[in-house]
Amino acid sequence: MNQQQFDVIVIGGGPGGYIAAIRAAQLGMRTACIDEWKNDKGGPAPGGTCTNVGCIPSKALLQSSENFEHAGKHFADHGIKVSGLELDLTRMLGRKDAVVKQNNDGILYLFKKNKVTFFHGRGSFVKAEGGSYEIRVSGAAEETLVGKQVIVATGSNARALPGVPFDEVNVLSNDGALRIGKDSGAVPRKVGLIGSGVIGLEMGSVWRRLGAEVTILEGLPTFLGAVDEQVAKEAHKAFTKQGLKIELGVKVGEIRNQGAEGVSVQYTDAKGEARTLQVDKLVVSIGRVPNTVGLNPEAVGLQLDERGAIAVDAECRTNLPGVWAVGDVVRGPMLAHKAEEEGVAVAERIAGQHGHVNFNTIPWVIYTSPEIAWVGRTEQQLKADGVQYKAGSFPFLANGRARALGDTTGLVKVLADATTDEILGVHICGPMASELIAEAVVAMEFRASSEDIARICHAHPSLSEATKEAALAVDKRALNF
Ligand code: FAD
Ligand code: NAI
Repeated sequence: MNQQQFDVIVIGGGPGGYIAAIRAAQLGMRTACIDEWKNDKGGPAPGGTCTNVGCIPSKALLQSSENFEHAGKHFADHGIKVSGLELDLTRMLGRKDAVVKQNNDGILYLFKKNKVTFFHGRGSFVKAEGGSYEIRVSGAAEETLVGKQVIVATGSNARALPGVPFDEVNVLSNDGALRIGKDSGAVPRKVGLIGSGVIGLEMGSVWRRLGAEVTILEGLPTFLGAVDEQVAKEAHKAFTKQGLKIELGVKVGEIRNQGAEGVSVQYTDAKGEARTLQVDKLVVSIGRVPNTVGLNPEAVGLQLDERGAIAVDAECRTNLPGVWAVGDVVRGPMLAHKAEEEGVAVAERIAGQHGHVNFNTIPWVIYTSPEIAWVGRTEQQLKADGVQYKAGSFPFLANGRARALGDTTGLVKVLADATTDEILGVHICGPMASELIAEAVVAMEFRASSEDIARICHAHPSLSEATKEAALAVDKRALNF
């Protein structure tokens, strides 16, 4: 068996792993990246959950389904008549798959460009010896890699409800939820989702826009508890108006997978009444669990925490010298950009630099319509922390660009320290919130005050003027509202 020596061995080629590998190679280290994801033909498909069954395909379907909804419901407002509108679901799913493949191929190209050696297969620890780690790659060919520095970036898997395994036909994880109708070419009549978190809302929106009757059952009594209350309320109102049925405070009971008959879900509603939801497809989106399957951490004594995540310190160091872990397999938010930032920081630390991740300025985005995006603390968190703050908000209803777009739902809200005026949080619900939040992240990273944003010239007409106006509103001097 071949034995190959590397300075850095990265296990996992999702956004945490592939970015760490590229950065390590840029810094002059001989780097390997091992990833086991297979495409339909059994070939390599680097990019992890994000590229294959997460961020990228979900955004492709969100865009396609939004276009479909616009053509059917909103083009008429612009004086565009559409007749004979038809959905070609097979083509829509095919386009999504092509977008995924472009990203897989892009990563393979980047590996070549940066001289990262890619291995397609499963990486597992064999032993630690003389300050080096031996990693076996089991794939088309068996290889043994040896290196002093190992970065584990093995990601996460969907959490199943106890006793209700994913069959990806009727009971679906994110994977199956992204290819409903692949065989039949048809949109199911009824889709149910358990959990109104990020996946529940994004996937629920896709299938509702494409014509399914969608019901989301959420265990908690509050909608999007981690989101600023005012923003969550606004979003809830918009989703309900669109026809998304969201039941809060339910207790899910027995779930029966009835094959061709679909799935029945028994639950108790918020009033304590027993109910049954009968659906064609059920998506279970109740969070994700860290993945160390096949990694064989016991072989080297790599410590996991009580949740099964790899235990790391604030700088992604594990209990073993030279072994690091990043992304979904460690603590912190399960977000692609968080994984990437940790990957870069670890590669830089290995190279003797001072890699840094600011956990206080990691943005969150939910790509529904309206989009929801935020950075920093919510109003309820500031109250709980006893911080004196000022709030300013501005509705898109009063923004010229939003009116021209025909999408005036939502608002921008800026929270600033009552004494220093430093921005502590920005919360957006509305069109292009995913893009608008970048300004807030930059402002917070530079510890800007709300007055700084209020004094910066923003292009007119633009949605970003709503951010400027919300910053002006902190000082009670909004100009257009
Ligand atoms: P992963 O992307 O899970 O990659 C891990 C990789 O390691 C996989 O390719 C896996 O096959 C491989 N692997 C595992 N074990 C081994 C082994 N032993 N040997 C070799 N290879 C191994 N985040 C966002 O920021 N924005 C979004 O819009 C977004 N949308 C999402 C939508 C959905 C439906 C889902 C499910 C997630 C979404 N996420 C989003 C979350 C995002 O996908 C994850 O946070 C991100 O992929 C984590 O990156 P990672 O590198 O830690 O792990
Ligand atoms: P989530 O944590 O966002 O939401 C799970 C929801 O399910 C919660 O509201 C929770 O209260 C509810 N829940 C849990 N158990 C339940 C039960 N037994 N019955 C009813 N409700 C229950 O998890 P989700 O949506 O699965 O997504 C996983 C992660 O993937 C996200 O937390 C996020 O990190 C990432 N993601 C990010 C996206 C983005 O950035 N746009 C998009 C999709 C996923």
